[in-house]
This record gives sequence, structure tokens and C-alpha cells, in this order.
Amino acid sequence: MSLLVGLDVGTSGLKAIAIDETTGYVEARAVRDYPLSTPHPGWAEQDPADFVVAAESALASLGASLGARAREIVGIGLTGQMHSAVFLDERDEVVRPAILWCDTRTTEACARITERLGADGLRRTVGNLALEGFTLPKLLWLREVEPEAFARVRRVLMPKDWVGLFLTGEGGADFSDASGTLAFSPGARAWSDEVLGAFDLPRSLFPKAHESSAIRGRLRTDLADRTGLPAGVPVVFGAADNAAGAVGLGVVREGRAMVSLGTSGVVLAATSTYVVEPEMRLHSFCHAVPERYYLMGVMLAAGGALRWYRDVLCDGERLAAELRRADPYEIITEAASTARLGAGGLLFLPYLMGERTPHNDAAARGAFVGLSARTTKAELSRAVLEGISFGLADSLALVHAVLGASGRTNGSARLREARLTGGGARSPFWRQLLADVLGLEVAVTTSTEGPAFGAALLAGVGASRFRSVEEAADALVHVTTRATPDPVAVARYREIHAEYQALYGALRGRFRAIAAWE
Ligand code: XUL
Repeated sequence: MSLLVGLDVGTSGLKAIAIDETTGYVEARAVRDYPLSTPHPGWAEQDPADFVVAAESALASLGASLGARAREIVGIGLTGQMHSAVFLDERDEVVRPAILWCDTRTTEACARITERLGADGLRRTVGNLALEGFTLPKLLWLREVEPEAFARVRRVLMPKDWVGLFLTGEGGADFSDASGTLAFSPGARAWSDEVLGAFDLPRSLFPKAHESSAIRGRLRTDLADRTGLPAGVPVVFGAADNAAGAVGLGVVREGRAMVSLGTSGVVLAATSTYVVEPEMRLHSFCHAVPERYYLMGVMLAAGGALRWYRDVLCDGERLAAELRRADPYEIITEAASTARLGAGGLLFLPYLMGERTPHNDAAARGAFVGLSARTTKAELSRAVLEGISFGLADSLALVHAVLGASGRTNGSARLREARLTGGGARSPFWRQLLADVLGLEVAVTTSTEGPAFGAALLAGVGASRFRSVEEAADALVHVTTRATPDPVAVARYREIHAEYQALYGALRGRFRAIAAWE
């Protein structure tokens, strides 16, 4: 039986899996952590050397645990953190540490980009707002603040493409990751000469972009010798982590969305035409599927808000969990399930790290509103889960609005199902709550490996084991559980969601005033 490898160059570490191409079963798995440094507040950097060391070591671990079966590997797919820039000189040597997607040093550069292109220019060219995390502002920052380093830079690669260069000798980019640079027109699936020209940047800084399942190159012989993997095995370009995550859940066609409940929360809907939310509050990117796109909303604190709640307000639950050898999140959701829908009139705003979608407001802050002398701990817990779910529903509402405005809601574009991934997918109570808040069927699939699984499917397409990404996903991704929205709860949550939305408007000015004290 043939095996497919997926390799995810993440932010906390790198994960490699080998899956069986007929069952999707994970046959081997290796994880390697690497550090993230914050030399100044708001900065986030990593050493690109760590990515390649981790990649070789993880592949060697797969090779060792598969033994003779490693010979059955027929393709390797790559995925990784989006937007992060690896700066290379003319000999493809690293110029300075990579600047990551979660780095916020580029506020001024973003303001300059917005001023130069205007909202209309951004909409027309790159289809996205100039956000701190994206790649173009990082280049402008480098040119201004570290001109000597900038003068040596000949090209910029995303972390997974840097690892691809190491594995095969071929850098390159794929359309989904190129979309997150702000120098690429997703609609045209091409680098934007207009944007590059506006900032006097040569096109040669960015590599040629390809479809995600196209073959980038073949595994170098010396690496094959050292890792025990077959020499010459094809390596595909791969995709951005969110696009690959969607592929791994089968979110490859219109009508399906991915809801990811990790530290951050992501709502991603596949579309078959390129559409842009008028105010660009959603990201519009190329999908890892030919001729397909996606709309994406990103909430900065989803699981992160629940973790804060657990750590700061749930000592009792943590102790109970220790005594029962249970997970504190289980105890918290169990208690939440005993409170009534709407948490007795308590609302929680999850903006603990500011918010990206829909507010794009770094000064936004979290809040409990509606506390009374009768409020119980169970209601606090329920309010936190409901508030995070409302945050996701805000992104979903924008998706519905865009699809509706493009006249597509009666056709195949209407969302029929959200596929859930991340830690939150494990709780049946939260799954039902999400179905009720989103008003959408929520499904959990067999694939629990996130983007690495999608990368392995892309490798399967590149290696001609499947004719298309859809065929690979249909064959290897299966729904295990579904939660169906309860119409009474949906109607009630619609009213409460409106109150939740009104709160941000009421508090926005206050958040700004308070942020000035920090
Ligand atoms: C997406 C984003 C993050 C990174 C995480 O726009 O910034 O989800 O992709 O790796």
C-alpha cells in the first residue's frame, strides 16, 4: 500500500505524518518543536535554520518508524504558517531571522500601503486589507529599518517553501500562500505588478507561484539517504496552513465551511469564484484547489479566550480535574451545559487580544456584560463558550452577506455545513452550541491532523494517485459526527447575537480610552 507524507511548518513546531493512501490512516507521526523569539514587544521571529533541521529530523523519524515501509512513500506535501517571511540572499542564504505572521511591528508600513493604494486600490489589486501580519509590510519595514539587510535580500519565501527548497532544491510558491503576501492578485492568480511597482519592489523578490498539487521537485538523494525515504519521491508545492487544513476536512467545494477552534478561531468558506467582502473584513485568498478561492475570517482569541478563562478564573475546576484525572475543559463545558441558553443574560466579548474579523481593532478588549448577584459560575462558563461562538458567527455572517450579494445563495454557494477542527471539536456540548449559534449543521471528520493531513492529500494528487483534490478528499475524509441546529435555539441565539454585536459598537470608544492606560 502506498503512503503519502504531509509536513506542516507551524509556529510552535513542525509536524510530519505519513498516511495510507487508501484508508487515510496515520501510519507514522513526528513532531519537532522550535523556539519563537520576541526581541521587542510585538515582534515575533524564528530562525529559518530551525525549520529545515526540524524537517530533516521529523522525516528521519518517519523513516525510522516505518522501516521497510518507508519505501512505499509516493509523495510529500508541504504546508505551513502563512505570511511569515524568510529573507534570502543571492546564494539562497538566510539574511536575518524570519518575521512571522503574528508580528505587529509593521503598523506604520500598513498605514503607508493603505494611504498609497487606497481602499479601492487594495480591493482592485490584492483584494485584502493591509494587515500587520501580511508579508509586503514586512518588506517595507526591512527596507526602512534594516537597509543593509534589505540590500542583500534577493527573494522572499514562505516557511514551507524554504523547507521545499531544502528538500528539493526548488523554492517557488503556491497560489494560496502567495495570496497572503499582499503583493499578489488572487483573482488573477498572479503577482501584482501594480502593487510591486507602487512600492518600487522588483518582481524577482517573489518566486513563481503554482497550483498547490503541482510537483515542485524531487527529494534530494543525500536527504533520502539520511532519512530513509525513497530518493526522487515527488514533493508538491503544497498550501498555506488554512487552505491545507480545509482540504484535510474536505472543504474543497462551495457549500462547505471550515470552523477551526484553536488558539485563534477561523471561519473559511470555499468559493468557486473570486469574491471580496466590500470592506475587506474577510480575507479573499486562492484555495489549494485549481480555480477555487476562499473567504476567511480570523478571530484572534477563540480557544485562547477559553484558556484564559480556565487559567485565571477556574482554579476550582482545575483542581476538580486533577482529582478526577479529567481535562479541566471537560469540567468547564459540563458546568456550562447546566446553565440555560443565554447564560441568564450574561454576555462575554472575547476580544482579549484585540480582534481581526470583523472589527480589525487592536484596541478591542474582552468583557463580561450583564453580571448580577444571581450569576453563577456555570453561567460564566456558558457565556464564555457562547461569546466565542458569536465571534465565529460574526465571520460567518459576513460570508453569507458576500455570497448573498454575489447572487449565489440560492445556488451551490449557500453554506450547508461547517466542518469543525481544533480542540473545541472534541466537546459534544460545544458542537451543538455552535450548530445553534451558527444556524448550520456542524460536522466532525475522521481527520484530526489538521493541515498536515491536507498536505498529504495534495501530495497524493501530485503523485497521480488521485485525479483531483476533490477526489482525494472524497476518498479519505469521512464525517464521524454531526450536530444539527435546533430551530428554537437558533431563533433565540439570533436575538442574543444582535445584542452581542451591539455591545462592541457601544464599547469601541471606551476600549480606545482604556487602551491608552496600558
Ligand atoms: C491567517 C493567519 C494564521 C496563520 C497561522 O491569516 O495569520 O492563521 O496562517 O499559521
